[in-house]
Amino acid sequence: MAARKPLVMGNWKLNGSKAFTKELIAGLKAELSGVEGCDVAIAPPVMYLAEAETAIKGSQIALGSQNVDVNVQGAFTGDISTAMLKDFGAKYIIIGHSERRTYHKESDEFIAKKFAALKEAGLVPVLCIGESEAENEAGKTEEVCTRQIDAVINALGVEAFNGAVIAYEPIWAIGTGKSATPAQAQAVHAFIRGHIAAKSQAVADQVIIQYGGSVNDANAAELFTQPDIDGALVGGASLKAPAFAVIVKAAAKAKA
Ligand code: PGA
Repeated sequence: MAARKPLVMGNWKLNGSKAFTKELIAGLKAELSGVEGCDVAIAPPVMYLAEAETAIKGSQIALGSQNVDVNVQGAFTGDISTAMLKDFGAKYIIIGHSERRTYHKESDEFIAKKFAALKEAGLVPVLCIGESEAENEAGKTEEVCTRQIDAVINALGVEAFNGAVIAYEPIWAIGTGKSATPAQAQAVHAFIRGHIAAKSQAVADQVIIQYGGSVNDANAAELFTQPDIDGALVGGASLKAPAFAVIVKAAAKAKA
């Protein structure tokens, strides 16, 4: 089996400005120059994709987005299409983030439609899954992850995960400073990969499974020692170039 190249992606959420975008990317370019062995992506707010597209030129940083609509064009006020994201060179598109599932009531089925739209457009879905604290305490972590993954498999088949990314983000770890332990995360990642392997070993072997939830410059290296953790989706720590760069370098080193 060929080794999976890790992917570290920054999810800026609702943060930034034109000036911040230029400054942070300039910092990342300086910190990451010459770093190999880890794919790097950033997902600024869509407002700033134009600044980001210009600023990342000449670097290994890929562009992403935090959301997309299922419709390609027409009367859909406030939405952003796959074609628009492609127009700015975006590649990795986050869908199903718990904040969207919660605040925008996005269902598993709706998220599967977004996954289909991204595949259709040749973009890379970064499908966020993960359980709440109550579900975790009730021992329902595997059940929740299965349901969220199966929504895509049932709609599109397991092959849809070829070239796709899954981000396992336990909701209780997001923005709380309380990351899952490497062993806890590894157990769930192995479960997710096993669940996909039951349908296709080849798809399971190549799918990138990121961990997300309070990843920072202090805990990243240990998380990346785990065999099924293929990088990270990073929120808070992606807003500071030095911290984000430490995480990227830790992934490159651990998976070399
Ligand atoms: P966090 O966010 O790193 O701030 O916990 C991660 C995420 O929500 O993707």
